[in-house]
Amino acid sequence: MVPITLDGRVAIVTGAGGDLGRGIAQRLTQAGARVIVNDCLIDRARETCDLLAAVGGQGLADGGDVTDAAQVADMVTRAREAFGRLDILVNNAGGIRDALLENMSEADWDAVCDLNLKAAFLCARAALPLLRESPAGRIINIASMAYRGNVGQANYAAAKAGLVGLTSTLGLELARSGLTVNCIAPGLIATPKSARLPEPVRDRLVRLTPMRRMGAIDDIAHAVLFFASDLSGYVTRQVMHVSGGMEGL
Ligand SMILES: NC(=O)c1ccc[n+]([C@@H]2O[C@H](COP(=O)([O-])OP(=O)(O)OC[C@H]3O[C@@H](n4cnc5c(N)ncnc54)[C@H](O)[C@@H]3O)[C@@H](O)[C@H]2O)c1
Repeated sequence: MVPITLDGRVAIVTGAGGDLGRGIAQRLTQAGARVIVNDCLIDRARETCDLLAAVGGQGLADGGDVTDAAQVADMVTRAREAFGRLDILVNNAGGIRDALLENMSEADWDAVCDLNLKAAFLCARAALPLLRESPAGRIINIASMAYRGNVGQANYAAAKAGLVGLTSTLGLELARSGLTVNCIAPGLIATPKSARLPEPVRDRLVRLTPMRRMGAIDDIAHAVLFFASDLSGYVTRQVMHVSGGMEGL
């Protein structure tokens, strides 16, 4: 068996106080990486760091808002000061403000696009000088199967589709620097939040999933681990659907 090791590597995971981000930070830590645990809710970031410490890892909590260029710059500076390097950026922070078009406010549009798309641009741009110095720089963007369109999610679908375009373009721009840029599109993942979905909505999503079940947080974390590791050194500009075969909503 080929072990996945990230010994010596340093990662930033944005939104890592949340469900998927926390799982991703845990798996990266278990593979040997040190992790800057970003979440604008700093207490959640600290809780994640406590979980990392419990498995012998080293996390650094960062409470920056990833939609704010100055706070993103501070986060990268903290990474450099604490660890002297950066190898992996996981743009995971995201969120929704669902409404049908006629009810969607401009504020809903802007907030969702800023968080799910602009933040990834800001983080990639700020992290680039350090990532270029890495022997195996990685940018991993967390999209959603909603990038293919979903009723009530014009803002979210557009932002996640934009993230796919950003992935493809940065992959081209950075290929000769040895950096890979990939994207993961989760389907329905079992989290405390999805457990709160109305049952008919959850049932419909499960029916749309050929494997007829929700995914686990680890299904996403393991895909991140693959893209973060040397196993995927020749893989770039890809969108991996981690969705039980679901190809659209
Ligand atoms: N959970 C799912 O089923 C699912 C499915 C498809 C895609 N995704 C995507 O996966 C990613 C993680 O989703 P999740 O379910 O873990 O969400 P979550 O809400 O549990 O976690 C998101 C975290 O991001 C943080 N955050 C929000 N705005 C921020 C900001 N401006 N700066 C820094 N941190 C900020 C929040 O405080 C929260 O802790 C998102 O990009 C989401 O779109 C999730």
